[in-house]
Amino acid sequence: MAGVYIHIPYCKKICFYCDFYKIISPEDKSQYINAIIREAELRRTYPGNEKISTVYLGGGTPSVFSLAELDTVMKNIRNYFTVNEECETTIELNPDDLNADYILGLKDIGFNRVSLGIQSWRDEDLKLLNRRHTVSQAEKALETVLKSGIGNVSIDLIYGIPGLELAGWEANLEKSFRYDIKHLSAYHLTIEPGTVFGKMKKDGHMKEIEEEESVNQFNLLVEKAEEKGFIHYEISNLGKDGYFSQHNTNYWKQVTYVGLGPSAHSFNHYSRQWNVRDVKKYIEKVSANETFFEKEELGIKTRFNEYLMTSLRTMWGIDLDYVERAFEKEGYDYIINLSNKFKDYGLMIQKDNCLALTNQGKMISDNIIAEFMMEDSN
Ligand SMILES: C[S@@+](CC[C@H](N)C(=O)[O-])C[C@H]1O[C@@H](n2cnc3c(N)ncnc32)[C@H](O)[C@@H]1O
Repeated sequence: MAGVYIHIPYCKKICFYCDFYKIISPEDKSQYINAIIREAELRRTYPGNEKISTVYLGGGTPSVFSLAELDTVMKNIRNYFTVNEECETTIELNPDDLNADYILGLKDIGFNRVSLGIQSWRDEDLKLLNRRHTVSQAEKALETVLKSGIGNVSIDLIYGIPGLELAGWEANLEKSFRYDIKHLSAYHLTIEPGTVFGKMKKDGHMKEIEEEESVNQFNLLVEKAEEKGFIHYEISNLGKDGYFSQHNTNYWKQVTYVGLGPSAHSFNHYSRQWNVRDVKKYIEKVSANETFFEKEELGIKTRFNEYLMTSLRTMWGIDLDYVERAFEKEGYDYIINLSNKFKDYGLMIQKDNCLALTNQGKMISDNIIAEFMMEDSN
């Protein structure tokens, strides 16, 4: 089992918070599509004998592509990789790119999961974030997606937005749960250097909300979602039973994945590689058969740190049997010794030989994870 991620680095408008690699979408995307197809061909053996069980088109904005363009990409993915019949096939969509024909077309191409970038149900937040869409467009888009019969629908929301406050966040959650969504990704706003918000922060025109307010919004998210039958299976991800994102779960469970497109990462247990973060260079290098990625062989400490960083964010936590097999007695003892303190404080819990964060622990997950990192990660 392995995954394929395809990065679509184009947006019609740049969101002020976004640090993902993207540029303004050009009219003619054919050179980029040819490069993606060429990369798929070049890297068709990367997953080895493993079949592809998830394909994920992320961005940027995959919905800047026409149905014909998406069809071409997906046909080539199926041509070069061995894709399972029941493959979870996800596409990220922006609300103002959609209509009923587009969604039905996506279904025909084979997309069976949709992730819709709602971000907030308040026009003032959408304006602040520099989103393209309005609340009324988001309502129509979500209704259209839900009517289309694509049953596996996820939405993205952002909390911790200056001015949103607890009551606004509560209203956003309540409104979201009135729709028949199966999954919610909820991210706390981070202000990244290099974004418009990053510059505003540097110039003193914006700051993060107070930590206590962040904690309250996080707690409300978990409480409201659990009331509605969602399972909080990863810090920022909540899903109904049977609707967790398999693609992201595989990242957290160390499954092999191949990432196509500029800035995309790939992982195969022993090494990690990442493609050049520039569309023009990417197209040139892939077309000329030149190296278009950097690669890091993963030493045992790096693998250990990556495993802890990802597993501690999930409800499954650290699998101590796996740790003993993969990182031997030294890794096992290190974790047991360190976890005792967190267990005493009620921040971690051990169940069936797995160590996970409690709800209290999840609130300070970054600090706990930092303490588990082994130094000298080579
Ligand atoms: C790369 S975006 C692409 C999704 C889609 N194109 C859209 O714009 O709706 C994936 C998601 O990451 C989240 N995200 C990106 N940057 C963020 C930030 N700085 N803080 C919080 N959430 C962020 C947003 O919720 C966004 O929907």
